[in-house]
Amino acid sequence: MAEVVIVENSEAAGELVAAEIVELIEGRPDAVLGLATGSTPLPVYLALRSRLAGRDVSQVRGFALDEYVGLDPAHPESYRSVITREVVEPLGLDPRRIHVPNGAEATIQHAGGDYEAAIDAAGGVDLQLLGIGTDGHIGFNEPGSSFASRTRVKTLTEQTRADNARFFDSVDDVPRHCITQGLGTILRARHLVLLAFGEGKAQAVADAVEGPLSAFLPGSAIQLHPHATVVVDAAAASKLRLADYYRYTFANKPEWQGI
Ligand code: F6R
Repeated sequence: MAEVVIVENSEAAGELVAAEIVELIEGRPDAVLGLATGSTPLPVYLALRSRLAGRDVSQVRGFALDEYVGLDPAHPESYRSVITREVVEPLGLDPRRIHVPNGAEATIQHAGGDYEAAIDAAGGVDLQLLGIGTDGHIGFNEPGSSFASRTRVKTLTEQTRADNARFFDSVDDVPRHCITQGLGTILRARHLVLLAFGEGKAQAVADAVEGPLSAFLPGSAIQLHPHATVVVDAAAASKLRLADYYRYTFANKPEWQGI
């Protein structure tokens, strides 16, 4: 099962995960990062600013999880824009090495296959950051997504559109379709790090970590992964049945193991 780390707050989570990413880059300067968007990974990106300052990150590569279909890449809430603003520019990464699925309608029929080929050509993702939706999605793999799925177009649930309306002027502006790495794509990354904060994520976290394996609970796919780490605050951990055991395990973990 996934290792669950219950931290004080999102800042502590950001520092913990950023330290792991720095160690990865130190050992492999052209590491391939799997980048999530949304609010959840922001503390990681923030912590990376100071931790990576002055280091050579020119070889670091990255693949975003998903993109809206039909949204102008120049729109401030396209995931291309978000990744540029929150990750590429502040961390000083080479934009040519950072990939986002292509949501352009004209090429959407082969955009999924193209993205899979690009990930394969990079040798796969070393560390994949993940958030989780209140409906349990990871990437934009909404309930019902196959565990074997690869990058493709999905229809966003009304709940996801409502959740993401905060980034747009109105819910009507939230696109209905997205292109997302599949659950099967995500499971091929070498290390999964799923973060979640706040009570609104508690049920989705409990389902992902302790729920039955089910396409109805896309986050539960992480249970199939040999190296998955779930970093949550107490509120997001509040529905975990084994929370005390996870706290005890982490408190007694040998330091050399990392996360
Ligand atoms: C983002 C993504 C989504 C989000 C999820 C949670 O690239 O793939 O799975 O991680 O919707 O969003 P936030 O973090 O905004 O609560």
